[in-house]
Amino acid sequence: MKLDILIVDDETSARRAGYKAFFEEVCKRLQGVDITPHFVEVPEMLAPMLGARTYAFALIDAVLTDNWGEDFSINWAVKQITSSSIYFAIVSKQWDAANTMQIDECLQLLECKAFMKWGEVENLDIYPIAQLGKALSERHGIDNGFPSTDDSSIFIVQLSDPQFGGFNKDNVKLETARIAEAILGCTISSPHFLAISGDITEHGTEQQFSDAEVWVHELCKRIGFPDKFPSRRIFLTPGNHDVTMQLVAAGRVSLSKGVDDTPKFGLSDSLIHSSLPDLALHYYRQFASKLSNHLMVGKDSWTETQFRHLGLVFYGVSTVQPDPFMWPKRRVDPKIVAEVWDNLNLETDQCEPLLRIGIGHHCPLSASGDKSIENDDAMGMLFNSANARTGLFLYGHVHQGEVKYQSDSFRLVTSQASTATKPAGSRPEDSLRGFTILEICRKSRKIDGLKAHIFEWNNNKITKNASKMKVFKLHHDGMFLEPPPT
Ligand SMILES: [Fe+2]
Repeated sequence: MKLDILIVDDETSARRAGYKAFFEEVCKRLQGVDITPHFVEVPEMLAPMLGARTYAFALIDAVLTDNWGEDFSINWAVKQITSSSIYFAIVSKQWDAANTMQIDECLQLLECKAFMKWGEVENLDIYPIAQLGKALSERHGIDNGFPSTDDSSIFIVQLSDPQFGGFNKDNVKLETARIAEAILGCTISSPHFLAISGDITEHGTEQQFSDAEVWVHELCKRIGFPDKFPSRRIFLTPGNHDVTMQLVAAGRVSLSKGVDDTPKFGLSDSLIHSSLPDLALHYYRQFASKLSNHLMVGKDSWTETQFRHLGLVFYGVSTVQPDPFMWPKRRVDPKIVAEVWDNLNLETDQCEPLLRIGIGHHCPLSASGDKSIENDDAMGMLFNSANARTGLFLYGHVHQGEVKYQSDSFRLVTSQASTATKPAGSRPEDSLRGFTILEICRKSRKIDGLKAHIFEWNNNKITKNASKMKVFKLHHDGMFLEPPPT
């Protein structure tokens, strides 16, 4: 992420190198952030500079009058900067009785985020570096919890279809420990993101979501991630099994007086209470709000741009639409897709290349039978329109781990994760059961590829299936290139 910082200092010529060294230290702290300083050389430059560009932050020298004259107090600078809605920090070398009052006035302002001593800035002391880092993080929504180096990978653990309520829970704690060991074996330290692509429960009941919540907490504790809930690093999307069918059907329940005034319930062929089917995903929403917090687009769809400084933007779209007359439809709402597209479109100038990662429950591309959404054409704008192209899409539903390169009028890598927990019914024990780790590879802070690791249960052990591993290179347009034939 590129941040332009304005420096208003009447001693710029003497301090320029000091500021630059200081910003380099701040950038080391905020991985993925590049700061470009813009120095106001003479007071007359301030107004035109403010008109020419949007600044991410400003540093203002507490005493401007020594070299610029009495007309140019700190209040003069602060007034112009705050009228452009720019947050700022005061940098001070010394002050006297006159400017103490002026500084005090500035400190009262909402936009004033820090007060730093020039001597500490010049010495690259940790205190002003931390202060500016914190102020920039808060102002621009930067998550600093990525202690990796410039070339280290970012790991996304994708789980799907745990279907709590649809299996015997006796082994789940032990299996969770095994899954956590396998994750940490691959990611070395804690993974950075966790995505669960739907069918959290079998029947969408409150108890089943409660059991699933315990499982997510247990897994997160074991993989050391994250330290706070709800988390922006947990991505969720609902599946067809997460719909509480009884609540959907409630919209059709009629009530009349029966014999002896007893209530008589019936199931109508038409919808009587139009608002009740909206409760279909009530327990899912309750579960999701406890574990993750993103900018909601529709009730169950969201975008997350907080990690764009790492070159990553995420979105989730619900591919499930409850219907009071049948099983949930496998559809996306085109209005919500358009809103997601708007949010993704805003981020294009922040980082290059920018990898957009989508999450849903069903395959977003046309596939046979029950496997994909019915209106895959509605997803087109997220896959093939300029400035909002998805490079990677995660989904589940069919309980089979598979990562594929797909192309049409777009280039897309899809990751279909298996079920982590639900054992076989008619199929052989442990077959099609596992999870996927998506390793986003980087070089000099920029994303340059993807390695997909697929883990599978075999005879009560979970191991990586080396034959299913896939490697892709990212093009500068934010989409992956077709792998060369092997
Ligand atoms: Fe499903």
